[in-house]
Amino acid sequence: MMVEKQGFKHFMLKEIYEQPGVVRACLEAYFTNTEKSSESPINLGLPTDFYADLAQIHIVACGTSWHAALVGKYLLEQLAGISTQVHYASEYRYAPSPLTPNTLIVGVTQSGETADTLAALAMEKERRQGQEPQYQARLLGITNRPESSLGLMVPHIINTLAGIEIGVAATKTFIAQLMAFYALALDLAARRQTVPLEKLVEIITGLRQIPKEIEATLESQESLTEHLAHDFAETKDFIFLGRGINFPIALEGALKLKEISYIHAEGYPAGEMKHGPIALLDSKVPVVAIAVPGSVYEKVISNAQEAKARDSRLIGVTPVKDGEAAEIFNDLLPVSSVDELLSPILTVVPLQLLAYHIAARRGLDVDQPRNLAKSVTVE
Ligand code: AGP
Repeated sequence: MMVEKQGFKHFMLKEIYEQPGVVRACLEAYFTNTEKSSESPINLGLPTDFYADLAQIHIVACGTSWHAALVGKYLLEQLAGISTQVHYASEYRYAPSPLTPNTLIVGVTQSGETADTLAALAMEKERRQGQEPQYQARLLGITNRPESSLGLMVPHIINTLAGIEIGVAATKTFIAQLMAFYALALDLAARRQTVPLEKLVEIITGLRQIPKEIEATLESQESLTEHLAHDFAETKDFIFLGRGINFPIALEGALKLKEISYIHAEGYPAGEMKHGPIALLDSKVPVVAIAVPGSVYEKVISNAQEAKARDSRLIGVTPVKDGEAAEIFNDLLPVSSVDELLSPILTVVPLQLLAYHIAARRGLDVDQPRNLAKSVTVE
């Protein structure tokens, strides 16, 4: 199938703009309208025995998919109360966790062809063969390409329904992977009754608002990020800070910038800065802080203040537009105020746009960055 840019300068920008539609497609596919206590409001098409006695989850992935998995871990642990570990597929293959019973293994790969992820899943499948029933492999794939090698390897798939992604830097497939994890975590939470029904309904109602919130974010951020990109012509290093459910978004913001602009960038859990990386900060190193009201908001603000005290230019991705907190930021990339649990789907959008505009302004090949391929089929 021939995919066109449809008036966008690059596929990456087009794909960023397709994100509201991707979230709508996932909402339609996974979320039913039955929000009754007796049933799960989610339908992932998984058999009942898939859910039986689930005690632990291991997720294997690479790159951006690994970041989505970290958000997934947060949701699975905090909503469904299931202990979840996230592994780099390339590491897990050679040093797997000890075998545990009733364990779900999830492979996340948008392409379904990443060699390390496939190899980690194959290793897990093989070492569980012939074991007692509770140790048998329970495998799930999260992918944008159910017809891929991953689709052939695992018995169950969550299809992320993002449509073909051409830009090497993943954007809409990341948001679609997040949606798959919201669906899985909410499904498990409903079945295990770990979250009161009213709270589940509240989260799902919030999710249903997300497409229009992304649209509003795109509308307000496009010129802001383009304008901001002018100031970083000479910048060599960037730091991205987040905490809690937004720490993986700091990692993702840094990865997007590295991949397409070739600027060195690091994502850090904001509270860890004082344990070393703060030594890097000065007026030449901008800091992007994701500060969303909720469990860690005050902490992130105080970590951001520490960066400002080292003369870093401070860019805030935050719904807070006024007051003392907003005043500490040199620049604001405002996002709508949503439940902290849902915030990653919004906070990642300005970071994608910022990376895009910095790279485009530098005249770089945004869709085909040097040294990178869309699917990494070598180990
Ligand atoms: C994302 O922007 C990167 N191109 C890269 O990190 C990618 O996420 C990684 O190679 C994993 O790809 P996959 O999701 O197809 O397995």
